[in-house]
Amino acid sequence: MSSETTTPAGGSCCGPAADARRATATEAPATGVCCGSAATTSDTTAVVAGRSEATDPPVVVIGAGPVGLAAAAHLTERGLPFLVLEDGSDVAASVRRWGHVRLFSPWRYNIDAAARRLLEAAGWAEPDLEALPTGGELVEEYLRPLAKLSALAPHIRYDAGVVAIGRVGVDRVRTAGREAAPFVVRLADGTDLHARAVIDASGTCTTPNVLGVNGLAAHGEADAAALIDYALPDVLGADRDAYAGRHTVVVGSGHSAANTLLALAELADQAPGTRITWAVRSGSADRAYGGGDADQLAARGALGTGLRLLVTSGRVELVTGFGVHTVRSLSDGHGELVDATGRTLVADRIVGATGFRPDHSIATELRLDLDPILGCTRALAPLIDPNEHSCGSVRPHGVDELTQPEPGYFAVGMKSYGRAPTFLMATGYEQVRSIGAALAGDWEAARDVQLELPETGVCSTTLGARAMLDDATARFGLAADAPAPGDRPQLVTVGGSGGGCCG
Ligand SMILES: Cc1cc2nc3c(=O)[nH]c(=O)nc-3n(C[C@H](O)[C@H](O)[C@H](O)COP(=O)(O)OP(=O)(O)OC[C@H]3O[C@@H](n4cnc5c(N)ncnc54)[C@H](O)[C@@H]3O)c2cc1C
Ligand SMILES: NC(=O)c1ccc[n+]([C@@H]2O[C@H](COP(=O)([O-])OP(=O)(O)OC[C@H]3O[C@@H](n4cnc5c(N)ncnc54)[C@H](OP(=O)(O)O)[C@@H]3O)[C@@H](O)[C@H]2O)c1
Repeated sequence: MSSETTTPAGGSCCGPAADARRATATEAPATGVCCGSAATTSDTTAVVAGRSEATDPPVVVIGAGPVGLAAAAHLTERGLPFLVLEDGSDVAASVRRWGHVRLFSPWRYNIDAAARRLLEAAGWAEPDLEALPTGGELVEEYLRPLAKLSALAPHIRYDAGVVAIGRVGVDRVRTAGREAAPFVVRLADGTDLHARAVIDASGTCTTPNVLGVNGLAAHGEADAAALIDYALPDVLGADRDAYAGRHTVVVGSGHSAANTLLALAELADQAPGTRITWAVRSGSADRAYGGGDADQLAARGALGTGLRLLVTSGRVELVTGFGVHTVRSLSDGHGELVDATGRTLVADRIVGATGFRPDHSIATELRLDLDPILGCTRALAPLIDPNEHSCGSVRPHGVDELTQPEPGYFAVGMKSYGRAPTFLMATGYEQVRSIGAALAGDWEAARDVQLELPETGVCSTTLGARAMLDDATARFGLAADAPAPGDRPQLVTVGGSGGGCCG
């Protein structure tokens, strides 16, 4: 692919200033058509390598995370013009937010095949495939080198948050001519770009779930925002001062909660006065403990096992059946959580680790048919239903399962799973391989979906998992064979430094 165009630095390509620039210079929008309708764009754009951007716009990829960059790699190999739009000012802004967290899948499953081919051709040395990287290492050792490749770098735009997607000249109701109309992708700065297709890999990390037990924000949640961190604060690093020597309540029961609780326990060893309460809305924390040694992803199992050790040893006080109804900022600076029965928990800090939600608001002018429960495509929903599946038992899937009534728009990666928390990067890589093939017209490859995953594959690793568990047991002076759930003492009431949990 070739694109020798340059984008007006840091600004919209629409408006008077841009018009003046265009009148005097040869610059054109970077691999995207800018401003207004197709009719008005043709005279503002360059013809690059025999390709008119107005009549042959690029595929727009939203998000330069692992899956968005994998999409770019596949489009590169397919020779399809593309433009990656990333909201952050650097690569993989969301992964960098949880850069301190260690992944539970080893490198082997975190590297996309097309990305690997491009990287290796540029002399990249792959990491130890059995090691478990942190989010930060995933970025520095893989995603950043990938984004810097000459095949990708000119086609990635940072500080380019997408706020809306439509189709040129037709709103959601209009059917005639819809399929032939390019997409119009609007950025936060008002720039409109045209796209042949849109691959939305914007993830779900920027839209954490609320604290309220019923899925609605808890009463007072917004007003108490200064006391709340949503998943996953770096309590041993950048956010240490807010947590050291203080009492924290962690709400939620997934891996984010487990990670924060384990990190807080480590902090408690270093900083006297650090106290930890864990509030779960269900009657027991058994689901959060997971499968332990029987877990197919060993590191994930170790997370749950480590958590159980913390509770049984009393280092973490567990409060069950506590669904948050109200959050209050108290006059002494503490935060108070109140459940529906009036029980309270008072602490210095609150961590909301209740999961993430997909945000489809940028696509409200598109025709989406979403599963009413998960918010993914209807075809995908039964394949990923967390009631039935772990990440390991998801069937390979691709373009067919991800197709929406809006032709050419695909949500992929973490976002494609909606509210299901069973997503693995490797699944996303296969999704974008399939979609890239379909966009290139290679339907045979597009439909030949394969996933080297689970029950055996990604789940068979033990490296790192054992280390995590050994680490936890050594740190807390406990036996590695954690007691069975039934043997666990049940802690139900907790006092905060300025109040308490009242039964
Ligand atoms: C803490 C944590 C640990 C995980 N560990 C594992 C693991 O061990 N193994 C595994 O396989 N999976 C793991 N996952 C799940 C999943 O693979 C990762 O979340 C992965 O980063 C998803 O990749 P993605 O590209 O779909 O989305 P993201 O990594 O979330 O990337 C989305 C990108 O889109 C950008 N963006 C968002 N909105 C916009 C917008 N409107 N316009 C432009 N850009 C936008 C963001 O800035 C971001 O860079 C983990 C998830 C979390 C949260
Ligand atoms: N590699 C790692 O170490 C790591 C770390 C963190 C996250 N991750 C990944 O990131 C993704 C998201 O994980 P996550 O833990 O953030 O989210 P999650 O898996 O969705 O877990 C959140 C859990 O909190 C509970 N919950 C939901 N709403 C609640 C509410 N309002 N009040 C109280 N509890 C509520 C739910 O459990 P109940 O229904 O049982 O109450 C839910 O399962 C997953 O793919 C996960 O594997 C990985």
